[in-house]
Amino acid sequence: MEKILVVHGPNLNLLGERDPAHYGTATLDEINNRLFRLALELGAEIACYQSNHEGSLVDKIHEERRLVNGIIINPGALTHYSYSLRDALEAVAIPVVEVHLSDINARETWRGFSVISDIALKVIIGKGPDGYFEALRGLIAYLRDGPVPADPG
Ligand code: DQA
Repeated sequence: MEKILVVHGPNLNLLGERDPAHYGTATLDEINNRLFRLALELGAEIACYQSNHEGSLVDKIHEERRLVNGIIINPGALTHYSYSLRDALEAVAIPVVEVHLSDINARETWRGFSVISDIALKVIIGKGPDGYFEALRGLIAYLRDGPVPADPG
């Protein structure tokens, strides 16, 4: 059974009350609970972790490196500048899907750049909580069946 680590970065603990115009009204617990249910349906296992501290996120990724087959991460603002988080993800060499609730390309210019994206299998932005569910389905399909073949046409 595949085990997926879901990592939420700084300020995502405030989902539901934080800037609903960008992040919606679902709380982090609601999103995590839906992820747990979806994982169960798909026959996979997930663990969810949130921290407001860069080093704690790095530590968690290190600790789980031999225990999980894939990582879904919304790095919050660390997306835009955290080379240590990027290095941690690259070092553990586990397939990663990067998720953003909001469309980071349609906001302030500085949000449009991610230091994580080029090492991610897939980047899902602007789909709200559905982005996490798409990430979980996509990651499990990738782990089971390998990469989707390129469209020959
Ligand atoms: C975010 C976008 C980031 O720019 C922001 O700092 C966040 C959340 C998103 O999910 O849209 O904290 O990653």
